Amino acid sequence: MQYNITRSSDLKVLERLVKKKGTDSGHNCVLITHVLSTSASYIRLVNEVFPVALVIAIPYSADLKTLHSLQASGIRTFLPSSIEEAFLQAGPLVKEILESDPTPLIVQEVGGYLAGYTDRLSCYAHFKGIVEDTNNGHWRYKQAGSHKVPIVSMAQSPIKDIEDTVIGDSVIYSTERIFREEFNAVLQGVRSAVIGYGKIGTSTSIALRGRESPVTVYDIDPTKCIRARFEGLRIAPLKQLLAESELIVGCTGKTSVRAEEIPYIQDNAVLVSASAKNEEFDLTAFEKHCYREEISQEVWKYTKTDGSSFYLLNRGTPVNFRDRSVLGNVLDMIYSELFLCICLLSEKKMPLCIQHSPTEIHSEVAKTWLEIYESGFADAPNDKVWHYPDSLASALTHTFFLQTEHQYESKNSR
Ligand SMILES: NC(=O)c1ccc[n+]([C@@H]2O[C@H](COP(=O)([O-])OP(=O)(O)OC[C@H]3O[C@@H](n4cnc5c(N)ncnc54)[C@H](O)[C@@H]3O)[C@@H](O)[C@H]2O)c1
Repeated sequence: MQYNITRSSDLKVLERLVKKKGTDSGHNCVLITHVLSTSASYIRLVNEVFPVALVIAIPYSADLKTLHSLQASGIRTFLPSSIEEAFLQAGPLVKEILESDPTPLIVQEVGGYLAGYTDRLSCYAHFKGIVEDTNNGHWRYKQAGSHKVPIVSMAQSPIKDIEDTVIGDSVIYSTERIFREEFNAVLQGVRSAVIGYGKIGTSTSIALRGRESPVTVYDIDPTKCIRARFEGLRIAPLKQLLAESELIVGCTGKTSVRAEEIPYIQDNAVLVSASAKNEEFDLTAFEKHCYREEISQEVWKYTKTDGSSFYLLNRGTPVNFRDRSVLGNVLDMIYSELFLCICLLSEKKMPLCIQHSPTEIHSEVAKTWLEIYESGFADAPNDKVWHYPDSLASALTHTFFLQTEHQYESKNSR
C-alpha cells in the first residue's frame, strides 16, 4: 500500500471537493483564520466558490509574506495588532460588509471571535451563519448563551480528533527546536509536566514520552488524572507538579497557572502553551508579580521576588505556530471539513443555535481522503468502507443472521 507523501502543499481533497461543488455558490465569505504559508491554498480555493470579502488574520500566527501575496491577488485582509483588537474589530468589520453588500455571507472562524456579536449579525437576513473550527471557539459560543444565527462547529468532529493526535508532536517539535536553539539543551531526560489531559494533553504526553522525557500529568478533572495514571503516566497535584518539573506544557485551553501558583514554579523551569490564544498562563499576574526580560523573540524570562526565575516560550501563544502547526494531508482533511461546513450553510436552512458538523460531512471528507491518499482503498471499489455507515448496519444484520442460523442448525443436529 502506498502512503502518498509529496513535497507539495497541495490540498488534493479540498481541490476535488471544490471542483464537485462548482464555482457559483451565490455566497461570499469572511475568514477569521491563521494566515500561515500553508493557509494560502485554502483561502484561494474557498475564494473560487465563496468570494472572500475579508480575511482577518490571527495576530500571533500571521505570516506577513502570505498576507501580502493574498493582498496582491486582490483579497482584502486585516491584521489586528493583538488578540484583544481581533475580538473588538471582528464583529464590526463583518457588520460593515453586510451593510455594504447584499450578497449572502458566511463567516468561517477559529476561536469564537464573534461569540458576543451574533445578536447584531442576526439582524441581517443575508447573514447565513458561522463555521467554527476550534474547541476554544466552541466553548466561547456555548458560554455566550443562545444565538439567533446558525453556528456549525467542527471542533469535536472525528476528523478533528485525527488532527488532535498529531498536534502534540507538533507542539513538542517546536519546543525541542527552541530548547536546542535558545537553551543548548535537549528534551531527553527533562522532567516534564502536562497540565490538562484532554485531546491535546494526551497527544503531547505521547510525544514527550517518545523523546524519553519522564512525564507527570495534572488535570482539574479527577477522572482524567486517573486515566493518565492507567495510561502509564505519573500524576501529581498541581503545586507539587510545578515544584518538580523542568518543562511545563499547558494544554487546558483555560488558565492553568495563576498568581497563586507562581511561587511553586521551579527555578529555571520552562513554560510552554499548546492552547489557543495566550490564555493558558495568567500573563497579567506574571507581569505583576515578576520582573520580565525579553531574552529573545521566543523566550521571556520572569524573575520572582525571591530571585528565582522561569521562562515562557513564544509569548504564551501556542508554540507550534512558529513552525506552521499542522501540515500536509492532515491539514487537507481539516480544510475540507471547513469547506463542506460552509457549503452546508449556503445550501440548507440550519437551526439557529450551535450544532456539531454532521456525520455525512465527516464521511465525505474521509472517503475522498482515502481515495486520494491510500491507493489500496482506491483500488478496492467494493470495499465496505465506501458504503459506511450503511455497510455497518448491513454487516451487523448479516452476522446476526449467520449466528441465528448456526444456533438453529446445532440445536436441530443434537
Ligand atoms: N496548538 C494547537 O495547534 C492546537 C490545536 C488544537 C487545539 N488547540 C487548543 O488546545 C486546547 C485544549 O484543547 P483540547 O481539545 O485538548 O480540549 P479538551 O477539552 O479535550 O481538554 C482540556 C483538558 O483540560 C482540563 N482542564 C481545564 N481547565 C483546567 C485547569 N485549570 N487545570 C487543569 N486542567 C484543566 C479539562 O478537564 C480537560 O481534560 C484548546 O485551547 C484548543 O483550542 C491547540
